[in-house]
Amino acid sequence: MASGAHSHHHSTTIDSPAIEPDEDRRDFLILATSAVGAVGVAGAAWPFIRSWSPSADVLSQATTEVDVSAIAEGQMITVPWQGKPVFVLHRSPQQIKSAQEGDKASLPSPQTDGERVIKPEWLVVLAICTHLGCVPQAIGTGEFGGFLCPCHGSHYDTSGRIRKGPAPANLTVPAYMFKDEKTLVIGKAKE
Ligand code: FES
Repeated sequence: MASGAHSHHHSTTIDSPAIEPDEDRRDFLILATSAVGAVGVAGAAWPFIRSWSPSADVLSQATTEVDVSAIAEGQMITVPWQGKPVFVLHRSPQQIKSAQEGDKASLPSPQTDGERVIKPEWLVVLAICTHLGCVPQAIGTGEFGGFLCPCHGSHYDTSGRIRKGPAPANLTVPAYMFKDEKTLVIGKAKE
């Protein structure tokens, strides 16, 4: 077991009294905080995360709306959807190229990048490792420039596909759609 897999447990700084003692959600909130810090978009992403009150109402909501206009190219935020963390990555041209080149690789779980995205610029995947459910590290980690799950060393590419390690499947793409140019709706497919 790699060290640091759960290191975010030690840096709890959540100050909201509304937080319930729910392990998954605490993991998510802290991950969101550290992921945002890591990519330096605190100014852009904090208002959203701060304003999200983890009430039962929110948890049971079928959809999550995200204003993606503040996410710069190459940056990623983590948002809650039905109590699960979701990575929303604004892919750079290099990240898109890398994902498309991966189509030709020998993939453990074959799927083209085109099958996994609606717009090439946006990758939307559940931040839940398909091995045993850890939250993978933020974009730019692992051997394929995507997401490393340090729990047992699963490497995902910039399309969220498993490329190396014990995870049996690609990161799950939830149903989603773009309501308009800047509004991503997770949990709902386009009619
Ligand atoms: S949970 Fe085992 S590698 Fe991710």
